[in-house]
Order: sequence, then C-alpha cells, then structure tokens
Amino acid sequence: MADNNVHVSAHPLVKHKLTLLRDARTEHKKFRELIRELAMLLGYEATADLGLNTFEVMTPLGGAPGFKLQEDVGLVPILRAGLGMVDGIHEMIPGAQVWHLGIYRDERTLRPVSYYNKLPIEPTVQVCLILDPMLATGGSAAAAIDVLKEWGVRRIKFVGLIAAPEGIAVVTRAHPDVPIHLAAVDDHLNEHGFIVPGLGDAGDRQFGTA
Ligand code: PRP
Repeated sequence: MADNNVHVSAHPLVKHKLTLLRDARTEHKKFRELIRELAMLLGYEATADLGLNTFEVMTPLGGAPGFKLQEDVGLVPILRAGLGMVDGIHEMIPGAQVWHLGIYRDERTLRPVSYYNKLPIEPTVQVCLILDPMLATGGSAAAAIDVLKEWGVRRIKFVGLIAAPEGIAVVTRAHPDVPIHLAAVDDHLNEHGFIVPGLGDAGDRQFGTA
C-alpha cells in the first residue's frame, strides 16, 4: 500500500489532536479548531522541502543571511470539508493564493462529482497543497490532482488528516509523483465508503449539518 511518497506524521501533537478530533463527543466548534490546528501542523511538515532564494537582510547590527520562499504557493481546499484546513496554513504562508475546488462524492456510486472550479486559464502558482481531511476511495483527491495538472501546476502535494489504504492505493497509482501527508492511515472503508474507524463525516461535523 504505502510507499515512500506517503508521509504519516509521527508528531505527538498531531496524534493528541487527532484523537480529540475522532472523539464522537467533540462539539462542532472544538472540531473546527482541531481541524485548523492539525492543518497547521501537517502543513508545516508538508512544506519542509519548499525552495528558498537567499539574500542579505540588514539587522540593526549588520548583514545576516536572509531567505525567501522561491515558489508561489497555492492552497486548494476541496469543498466543503477542506475549507477548515485553509486558515491554519494560510496564517503560516500569508502570501499563498487560495483556489477552491468543489467536488462531492456521489453517495450511490462513490464517484467524485465536480461542481465548482474557477481557476484562471494560466497557472498562477508553482506549487499547490490540496487540502481535504478525508481520503476515502481516493476519487476526490485524484480528480483534484487531475484538475491541477491540467491547469499546469507541476508540484502538487495532498494534505489530509485520515486516509483509508484503498484511497492511498488509488491516488498513488494514478499520481505516483504526488506526496501524501496525513495524520493517520486507518483500517478500511465500510460498505458506504466511510473510513473505519475514521471520525465520521468531516464536512458535517465542521458545519453542523449531520
Ligand atoms: C468527503 C471528503 C472528501 C471525500 C472523500 O466529502 O471531504 O472530499 O468525501 O471521499 P473519496 O476519497 O471517496 O472521494 P463529501 O463528498 O462528503 O463532500 P462534503 O465535503 O461537501 O460533505
């Protein structure tokens, strides 16, 4: 299943917060806070290999080595559930562009259905982080990667929270060049395509629509 392009965080804070997120007793407000915090932690890990330009910065006492992100970064939340992952990473990369993709999973076929995409014709970023807490069958993530490759972005990373092995297999087979950053890989998908044990429906739990 997993190969060296799948990164599961070993950070204690990630494990601690993911446990609170999974807990069925966690209320919507706390759930949203945890999604935001986990996105920040995973975003930190997912951006560890971004390129830097170097220059000299003047401190009050003289010159010091300075660094600036080399590439323009795009944050691409998959609506709806990915929305909650934007703010935490955006705070760390305030210059990032946010491009929304609307993709939902048909409840009967489990196939992704695209309903929103207003990307401009030419790509405006060099690296994209796709944000979606759940990687279940992998259909939505693979479809989002297809869209971004078609747009012309060469460096794409997927940042999620929980994945099923089945979904990881689908994405890595279709897009072996796209690293996947996660907080956990769970056991399996049930007959409704839900990750088990997972955390339920990440969109409904964030937005109170269960
Ligand atoms: C969920 C989740 C992913 C998708 C994962 O969204 O947030 O986008 O399902 O499933 P997949 O890997 O099998 O494609 P959902 O379709 O429930 O839409 P929502 O976020 O609008 O509720």
